[in-house]
Amino acid sequence: MAEFRLPENSRIKPGRKFAAVDGAANVRKFIVYRYEPDSGENPRTDTYEVDMDRCGPMVLDALIKIKNEIDPTLTFRRSCREGICGSCAMNIDGTNTLACTKATDEVSGDVKIYPLPHMPVVKDLVPDLTNFYAQYASIKPWLQSRTPAPPDQERLQSREDQLKINEPSACILCACCSTSCPSYWWNGDRYLGPAALLAAYRWIVDTRDEATGDRLDDLEDPFRLYRCHTIMNCTRTCPKGLNPAKAIAETKKLLAERRH
Ligand code: SF4
Ligand code: SF4
Ligand code: FES
Repeated sequence: MAEFRLPENSRIKPGRKFAAVDGAANVRKFIVYRYEPDSGENPRTDTYEVDMDRCGPMVLDALIKIKNEIDPTLTFRRSCREGICGSCAMNIDGTNTLACTKATDEVSGDVKIYPLPHMPVVKDLVPDLTNFYAQYASIKPWLQSRTPAPPDQERLQSREDQLKINEPSACILCACCSTSCPSYWWNGDRYLGPAALLAAYRWIVDTRDEATGDRLDDLEDPFRLYRCHTIMNCTRTCPKGLNPAKAIAETKKLLAERRH
C-alpha cells in the first residue's frame, strides 16, 4: 500500500487528551484530526486512549467507541461498516483507506487518523466531496443508447463483454484514489481524477452503450484526462483492489487509436 505521510504542519497542534478508563490493560492510542471551520480555531489533534479488550477489531469500531463513550463531538462518516458504501474513507497511518476494513492491529504504534488529504474539511474527518461528486456526474455515469431495448428481454451481453466492466463497476466511489493523486491535489478543479476516469472507462467499454464517441470526445482535453502522469498512487491505495491507473492508460490508448 502506498503511504502518503502528511507533512508536519505546525498549525496542527496536539489538543485534548482522554485517558483510558481505570483498570484497562490493553490500551491503544488514537490520535485524531479535529477541525471545525466555523469555530475560527486552527485544526488540532486529540488523543484518545481506547481499551481494546472492550472494542471491535477495526479502526471504525474504535472511532464509534470514542464517539459513543468518550467524546460525542467527534465527527466522521460511516454507514455499511463492511467496505461497500465508501463513506468511511480516511487517512489512517499515512494511507487512504476504509476505516471499517482496516484492522487496528495492522497499525503499529499510535493510530493516526486524518481526513482524506487535500480536500476542504466540513468537520473533523468529514471531507467536502461536492467537487468529487460533480466530476463523477460530469462523465454521465449511465447507459446511453439510441437503439430501443428488445421488447421481450433485457439488453443481453456476452460473458466476455461483461468481464470488461466487472472490475470498474466494483468501484464504491470512496475517493481514496483521487485524494492520493498528486495531479488531483494540484488540479482537482479541472483534472477529473482516477475515480471519475475509472467510471468513464466503465461506460466507454460497455458494449451496450452507444455514446462511446461522445464520451471519448469529452475526455480529449489537456486537463480532464491528460493530467494523469501515471504516478500510480491511485491503484496502490484502492481499498477494493481496483486499477484506475490502468483504466486511464487504456482510455488514452483508445483516444490515440482513434486519431490514427
Ligand atoms: S496514475 Fe494518474 S490518476 Fe493515478 S495517481 Fe497517478 S497521476 Fe493520479
Ligand atoms: S477506484 Fe478504488 S479507491 Fe477509487 S473511488 Fe473506486 S473504490 Fe475508491
Ligand atoms: S462504512 Fe461503508 S465502506 Fe466503511
